[in-house]
Amino acid sequence: MTAFQPRVFSGVQPTGNLHLGNYIGAISRFVPLQDEMPSIFCVVDLHAITAWQNPKELSQATREVTAAYLASGIDPKKAIIFNQSQVKEHAELAWIFNCIARMGWLNRMTQFKEKAGKNKENASVGLFAYPTLMAADILAYRGTHVPVGDDQKQHLELTRDIAQKFNNDFSDRIQELGVGVPNPTPSNELPPELFFPITEPLIAGEAARIMSLRDGTKKMSKSDPSDLSRINLTDDADMIAKKIRKAKTDPEPLPGDVEGLKTRPEADNLVGIYAALDGSNKQTVLKDFGGRQFSEFKPALSDLAVAKLTPITEEMRRLLESPGEIDAILKDGAEKASEIAEPVLRDVRKIVGFLDVR
Ligand code: TYM
Repeated sequence: MTAFQPRVFSGVQPTGNLHLGNYIGAISRFVPLQDEMPSIFCVVDLHAITAWQNPKELSQATREVTAAYLASGIDPKKAIIFNQSQVKEHAELAWIFNCIARMGWLNRMTQFKEKAGKNKENASVGLFAYPTLMAADILAYRGTHVPVGDDQKQHLELTRDIAQKFNNDFSDRIQELGVGVPNPTPSNELPPELFFPITEPLIAGEAARIMSLRDGTKKMSKSDPSDLSRINLTDDADMIAKKIRKAKTDPEPLPGDVEGLKTRPEADNLVGIYAALDGSNKQTVLKDFGGRQFSEFKPALSDLAVAKLTPITEEMRRLLESPGEIDAILKDGAEKASEIAEPVLRDVRKIVGFLDVR
């Protein structure tokens, strides 16, 4: 949506066990974007409490995600880094979006079904409404571009639906108040002026979904009970090497082309990880390793992972020794974020028709 000022927004939950999937699918991709567009990277602590979090661990995990952002190369002079709970506009807009989104839309969210599991009745209301808060995160800044892993695709489609319904429901009001942006492509579905942009998801190609090292059909996840299933951003070189050595594989040598990976999820995943860390693609990796055994490929992958990740994990450790510095960066970020979100919410209140008596 060209009429809006381009702006990147993304977030990571401070729920512990930051892993290689978070790094490849999200954080590493944030870094180049900060030079392309104004960017905001959030530590989404309001989202974290949709499942129980130990309060002491939550603040530490918030600093840990911040440290991962910084250690990966996000520069607080270029991009805004802050934690969600410090900017009250997120919660306020989420409530308004709860009244825009339909039950049927949220009932279709596969992530809720996965996370709530069999015991849906006992899941928090917040877990069900999680995607409306995510829409609020992005749209409180009128964010136009959102880099995420593949698992967030459905939530971003919902964000687009919420923006569209808001723009439509309030189209007269938006025009009357003169707070809209001309829509370059008005259609039957979209009015001539928009208040919220229709956000563009930025989903990485080949490595958008990093899988478990123990089961190539399952996503690498913070909540997997097996620590061997993921490489954590707190693992040292020995641990990284051990986890790759123990990663599940099949008995065949690597195929010569990507076609040959189709029925081999574990091989596909390891080749994808290699390609993502090396900044190449699966085909190039197979040009070098096609026909070779895992006993040769795994040590090469391990060396690459250690070379790429240990400078980051060491820098994270160093940063976490100075929590005061991390907190100062978050405070500064929250102030800058508020400066953008406050006027947006002022307009939203007017659009909705809340009486302003102060
Ligand atoms: P979270 O913390 O679960 O994940 C953070 C990011 O990591 C990506 N990711 C993966 N990418 C590839 N392979 C994997 N195995 C893998 N696991 C996780 C996720 O796609 C995500 O990009 N709901 C979001 C947080 C959020 C957000 C937002 C994102 C809240 N508000 C607004 C963008 C915009 C989440 O799942 O976080």
